[in-house]
Amino acid sequence: MLRNQTFAILMSMGSAVAMPALVFAQTEEVPKTAATGTAAPAADGAGGEEAYNNACRTCHSVKPGDNRLGPSLSGIVGKKAGGESGYQYSPSLKNSGVTFDEATLDKFITNPDGVVPGNNMKPYTGISDAALRAKIIAFLKAGK
Ligand code: HEC
Repeated sequence: MLRNQTFAILMSMGSAVAMPALVFAQTEEVPKTAATGTAAPAADGAGGEEAYNNACRTCHSVKPGDNRLGPSLSGIVGKKAGGESGYQYSPSLKNSGVTFDEATLDKFITNPDGVVPGNNMKPYTGISDAALRAKIIAFLKAGK
């Protein structure tokens, strides 16, 4: 009799221990689902402004004519390099003949010297994450 009761208590303790583990496993699922949820809109260009803010805004503005350490990036997608009047470009960039279509811009922000050797976009280390570059380019293209 006593033995059976002890067994019953152990059993209920066992399930009491198992329960939080199950709940924990479920709560662990939640952030994963949420992360997937945020990744989907990001592929459509959302998150681009944040990525731009982190990687470019220290030196660039997207306001037309607002040249800072770097030239304004307003309308940069599809634009010829060195086109901001009133900005003192390096001769390398000014005379590069490059047009910043999406593919060229993508290469440029991966490794500026690979597209325009001797440019003065420094100290900028390049972005190796293709998805991050795509977000930034989508943001710049949207022209906000
Ligand atoms: C450390 C400052 C700095 C950062 C960070 C930076 N840039 Fe630049 N950028 C410059 C400078 C300076 C130039 C002008 C270079 C020259 O004259 O050779 C430039 C030039 C450019 C140009 C050429 C523009 C034109 O009118 O020809 C593009 C495009 C550009 N940057 C895009 C970006 C993007 C996109 C990012 C973020 C991923 C970024 N830059 C981050 C400083 C920076």
